[in-house]
Amino acid sequence: MHLEGKAAIITGGARGVGFAIAQEMARQGARIVIMDPGGAKDGRPEGGTPAEAAATEINAAGGEAIACNESVTDHTACGRVVAACKDRFGRVDVLVNNAGILRPKMIWNMPEEDWDTVVAVHLKGQYNMIHHAARVMREQKWGRIINMASEAWRGTVGQANYGAAKGGVFSLTRAVARELGRYGITANTICPSAATRLTLDEAVKAGFRKRLEAGLITRERYEQVMNMGGPEHIAPFACYLASEAAAHVNGQAFRVQEGMVAIYNDPEIKATLTRAGDGTFSIEELARLVPQALLQGYVNPAPAGEKE
Ligand SMILES: NC(=O)c1ccc[n+]([C@@H]2O[C@H](COP(=O)([O-])OP(=O)(O)OC[C@H]3O[C@@H](n4cnc5c(N)ncnc54)[C@H](O)[C@@H]3O)[C@@H](O)[C@H]2O)c1
Repeated sequence: MHLEGKAAIITGGARGVGFAIAQEMARQGARIVIMDPGGAKDGRPEGGTPAEAAATEINAAGGEAIACNESVTDHTACGRVVAACKDRFGRVDVLVNNAGILRPKMIWNMPEEDWDTVVAVHLKGQYNMIHHAARVMREQKWGRIINMASEAWRGTVGQANYGAAKGGVFSLTRAVARELGRYGITANTICPSAATRLTLDEAVKAGFRKRLEAGLITRERYEQVMNMGGPEHIAPFACYLASEAAAHVNGQAFRVQEGMVAIYNDPEIKATLTRAGDGTFSIEELARLVPQALLQGYVNPAPAGEKE
């Protein structure tokens, strides 16, 4: 077992990727706090207490788990959950910031509430949890923070709120990795890809079927989506990051799916244009030099006039 004696909080741990990670961490000997208020995939209330059900299932399988029905958007409640983990298990070793919702719309149709709510769950929620957990982890001089992001951070259509929040998760992770590393705490990002209600519910499947029938996607692409691996393929990598073996993996971002683990480049400047003299480029100079010096090989991701 790789996490014997550890205590882990998993936000959004009642379903999908979070639950798979909770189950695997419990099998690896960790005691688990499932933090999840439930709700529909857009974050609206739905009834039920999935956190209780998830904790019951882990306990029935021989693990040790408790449920908290709190939301990561509530700063004070996040402090209560961290305190509950410490009270019950004596430590807070692992924090998996996994809670997530979706409210997709084009930016011109996106109401302020959909922007605020998505950013509150994905980005502010991760800050809320790290803020409280880091205090305990610093005292322990040991901790592992694993933040779920998404490929959407690289640019997406119809999900500016989600993509922006996930981009924020990358920067947040890189910052806290640098602040907390000296205390024996690591922080890393995972961009998962797995079949869950977020990615492959009946509505999504019907949408892909329609696009296939309309000739908008190839059968190969359709089969690829329909056969996407489950969240159990993400869990071993999260356990690895939480384990002693990954003590020196810090501030990194990984892409994980069935049968594949990849690491992202560090963002860096790829070309530079400098000007001697007074240092102020004229607009004419920029119009001439930018394409030559900075945009070699560049492809516009959305050229004007392209079909919608
Ligand atoms: N599944 C994928 O392929 C995929 C791809 C990219 C990113 N992600 C990210 O992985 C994470 C998990 O996604 P999933 O696919 O398992 O989705 P999911 O809907 O199956 O699970 C998300 C869980 O988060 C919980 N949650 C929602 N709001 C919460 C809140 N305010 N506080 C605490 N919990 C809350 C939900 O109740 C749910 O149980 C998300 O952050 C998501 O953005 C998933």
